[in-house]
Amino acid sequence: MALYAIGDLHLSYGVKPRGGSGSRPGPTGGIWKNREAVFRQNCLSLLTDDDTLVLAGDISFGKNAEECAPDFAWLACLPGKKILLRGNHDRFWDAKKTPALNAKYGDELFFLQNNFAAYGDWALVGTKGYCFEGPFYLDRRGRLVGWDEEEERRAGELVKRELERLGTSFEAAKSAGYRKFILFLHYPPTSLIEKTSGFCKMAEEYGASQVIYAHSHGEHNFHTSIEGMKNGVFYRLVSGDCLRWRPEKILE
Ligand SMILES: [Fe+2]
Ligand SMILES: [Fe+2]
Repeated sequence: MALYAIGDLHLSYGVKPRGGSGSRPGPTGGIWKNREAVFRQNCLSLLTDDDTLVLAGDISFGKNAEECAPDFAWLACLPGKKILLRGNHDRFWDAKKTPALNAKYGDELFFLQNNFAAYGDWALVGTKGYCFEGPFYLDRRGRLVGWDEEEERRAGELVKRELERLGTSFEAAKSAGYRKFILFLHYPPTSLIEKTSGFCKMAEEYGASQVIYAHSHGEHNFHTSIEGMKNGVFYRLVSGDCLRWRPEKILE
């Protein structure tokens, strides 16, 4: 039995091609080319039905139940238990829909928000998260000299709401008797201008062992938040392109 994670599959099997090019949404070149096949093959060689795979957000470009259904059916056929986290591109999933999604797909997929999933004596908790993504202002030498303070304030409101959801997730697990936690976020736990955040503090307060996050794409964005051990918590990025579509083992 093992716990794996990966984010940002950005599936679109059920999305009708749009625009003159007839292409589906999302990146397609370079590391993104044939990602579904590469990821599926990696899952088949790594995972068994005793394992658990957390999909850390940006799961589907489908904007409603109909457009998502083929993506969910495709995921359900992979080995192991699948736990889904909400990403910024998951328009099918607003916060109120989590119970309905779990009622509909409960036998095949678990949607993690305002709740938790058990993995042995561990509780898997999580929420989409949020961090300020700019605009940042640089000088001619590329040094950070400022940022959009109005956007930073707006980001703060989104962070506050996500922290409330994360607190609900932790408390649900705690009430059920769990004392060991792994925390999943879609967004990185800190922005470019932060050394810590409310997400880090909550992880420390509840004694989470790991914070797993995704969302960061492209080499230049892979190391912009916390990585490795900090204040007793281990942080790691599991965006799909960073992992080259091979799920990362989180726990045995
Ligand atoms: Fe993404
Ligand atoms: Fe994202």
